[in-house]
Amino acid sequence: MITTSDIKINKIAKSRVTDYDVNDVPFGKCFSDHMFVAEYFDGKWQTSTISPYGDVPQSYAMSSLHYGQAIFEGMKAYKNDKGEVSLFRPLENFKRLNKSAIRMCMPEVPEEIFMGGLLELLKLDSAWVPTSDSGSLYIRPFLIATDEAIGVKPSESYKFIIITCPAGKYYSEPIKVIVETDYFRAVHGGVGFVKAAGNYGRSLYPTKLAQQKGYQQVIWTDSATHHFVEESGTMNLMFVLGDTLLTPALSDTILAGITRDSVLALARDSGMKVEERKVSLLEVAEAYKNGQLNEAFGCGTAATIAQIVGIGFEGKDFVLPPVADRKFSTKVDETLRLIRKGKVEDKFNWMLKV
Ligand code: PLP
Ligand code: COI
Repeated sequence: MITTSDIKINKIAKSRVTDYDVNDVPFGKCFSDHMFVAEYFDGKWQTSTISPYGDVPQSYAMSSLHYGQAIFEGMKAYKNDKGEVSLFRPLENFKRLNKSAIRMCMPEVPEEIFMGGLLELLKLDSAWVPTSDSGSLYIRPFLIATDEAIGVKPSESYKFIIITCPAGKYYSEPIKVIVETDYFRAVHGGVGFVKAAGNYGRSLYPTKLAQQKGYQQVIWTDSATHHFVEESGTMNLMFVLGDTLLTPALSDTILAGITRDSVLALARDSGMKVEERKVSLLEVAEAYKNGQLNEAFGCGTAATIAQIVGIGFEGKDFVLPPVADRKFSTKVDETLRLIRKGKVEDKFNWMLKV
């Protein structure tokens, strides 16, 4: 593990935290006092620095801007009633960042840099972690190519950066989603299974079209047939059909969500029937017609559990049961919240104290 002496620390002269109510800020707009930056060049990881949050001087020729060598993670820290800060499953984000790095031809970030930088940053900025029931500190680790060079080839220099921001709910209300059958998010052999920045850029236009039709998000379908559901927006997708929890099996077109994995673990632990397999639109439509589509929700770090109350498909809307009737997803949402806030036993050992 990296020690403090390996990181050059330049503290802010006066914290900005009193300028905000960290329990009541819009998602992703207000950044905490410090940022962590590690630099890679000459074939190895070099200096690590924590300094006041601010702009990074880089060239407009920086290769990540042109050729998309840019990957990121999303994770959260929580504060318990005693004021102690804990991270939710941070090693899973560390492993996934490096999976993304390999696919995008970028150097892997060593564990001592990822975890050492993260823990040191959180110690300095613990006052920014919200105390409210649904609040958390959203953490954005990212890796970008920094060569000042035109020409399509892997960069030889990179920066690994961590910035954080206090966050409340990503979706303030249950959402309506529309099945997308013209555009797709990911393709076999592509980069859908990693958190490459380009995956998000390509999603914006179809999402804008969905929003113009009155939906908050799309349900992505497979690129070959558009017959199978994959994800919704930036969330993994789950259904309760009858008494079974059903979710698309992981593949190279689906991001292996850490929230998804946690929901499945809690479901299995509670004795619920769980199926991870291909899920066809036909099957979802049949279940809706037969009154078997009891719950639908998206899950992800930013969104936590986002209840889906309407699904637009082939010009019609499936109107789903009210949230108050959804036993499984309301329970799992609450259980995750209690584990994260240190209010119930963490039997899966998910929380890491800062
Ligand atoms: N799918 C996509 C495309 C995402 O961007 C995210 C968010 O990170 C997820 C799923 C959910 O993953 P996680 O639960 O690890 O945040
Ligand atoms: C997350 O859930 O952490 C995401 O990455 C989604 C988003 C804010 C891009």
